[in-house]
Amino acid sequence: VNNIKIAIMGFGNVGRSLAKLIAFKGEDIERKYNIKLNVVAIADSRGAVVREEGLTPYELLKLCELPRSYIFTYEPYGIPGAKVKEIYSRVAPDIHIEVTPSNYESGEPGLSNILYAINSGVNVVIANKAPLVLKYSHIMQYAKQRGIQIRFKATVMAGTPLIDLLKSLKGYNIEVIEGIINGTTNYILTEMHEDLIPYSDALKKAQALGIAEPNPDLDVKGWDAAAKLVIISNVINEPISLNDVERDDLSKLDLREVFKAIKENMLLKFIAKYDVKEKRALVKITKIPRDDILSNVKGTMNAVKIKTDINNIVLIGKGAGRMETAHALMDDILSIAEVISHGP
Ligand SMILES: NC(=O)c1ccc[n+]([C@@H]2O[C@H](COP(=O)([O-])OP(=O)(O)OC[C@H]3O[C@@H](n4cnc5c(N)ncnc54)[C@H](OP(=O)(O)O)[C@@H]3O)[C@@H](O)[C@H]2O)c1
Repeated sequence: VNNIKIAIMGFGNVGRSLAKLIAFKGEDIERKYNIKLNVVAIADSRGAVVREEGLTPYELLKLCELPRSYIFTYEPYGIPGAKVKEIYSRVAPDIHIEVTPSNYESGEPGLSNILYAINSGVNVVIANKAPLVLKYSHIMQYAKQRGIQIRFKATVMAGTPLIDLLKSLKGYNIEVIEGIINGTTNYILTEMHEDLIPYSDALKKAQALGIAEPNPDLDVKGWDAAAKLVIISNVINEPISLNDVERDDLSKLDLREVFKAIKENMLLKFIAKYDVKEKRALVKITKIPRDDILSNVKGTMNAVKIKTDINNIVLIGKGAGRMETAHALMDDILSIAEVISHGP
């Protein structure tokens, strides 16, 4: 059995779901792939838990019961205030999981954590988009220099494998990538069309259901979708930066525009589009015909159309969700574990 030591940086929605997933499916994974996943460290904003031999499934589930920011109280493994440096002075993980919040101004704390992991010879799996959006090529070059594996399929469409799909199209010329890559705004728009309610009511509903954040700006002002376009552009080797993406503000959408579209047998979607040939990227409220495949993508579902010189591909699936994201991380962990065990 190959023992793979894991450090989870961030213990919120996604970090906790990953811990549960490892606790519940760890045995199954060991049986199927001969890989034992050992969580040796977990950190949140106020401290960490470190156990060199690996936390047991019971311990992982007990940690998930603690309130946010309190894992340092878990005895005897809790360490108040411990950050990545201190954690890595105590344990040497094989894989670092970055699930801290996305901060598009500084990329922190994710960026420093990732660079520290690479510098320490630790492979990295990422769900936090910001470090990749701001420093994709720097991270990749540094990792290559140090012989480190980096995976990040959870950053775009979570459990729906768009990143893997794009990586598999190396011989194609990708001309346009467009679609619905933010579930929160698609939910709000779906509500506006189906219940004919204004933006503010649709947002309240989304917030009550936990689909929208208390501060919804990253989603409704198009930053989240723009960030995903930047990651997509890097994956297909046609990089753009966040400032290159033109963005609409969904909160400015008047219900009368929705009525108008419906009357014309059309509907409005918050479409993210990267026209690769023209190097133009945008996240725009777009009127589309009712028979367009994207019209039927409702609620928090995501969908992307990839137009290549050879064919058109459509990928539809859930674009977020704690467990979906945790499964994407698990896939990345296992693919790195395979490389560590058998070589690339
Ligand atoms: N939720 C999804 O469906 C989804 C899908 C794809 C990607 N993502 C990305 O995944 C990341 C995590 O999402 P989430 O929903 O789990 O966020 P979250 O619930 O806010 O959790 C973030 C965690 O990071 C911790 N943290 C903050 N600063 C830290 C620091 N300096 N050192 C260590 N830990 C720190 C927080 O600590 P406290 O607990 O102490 O506050 C919290 O545990 C985000 O970047 C998000 O964009 C999420």
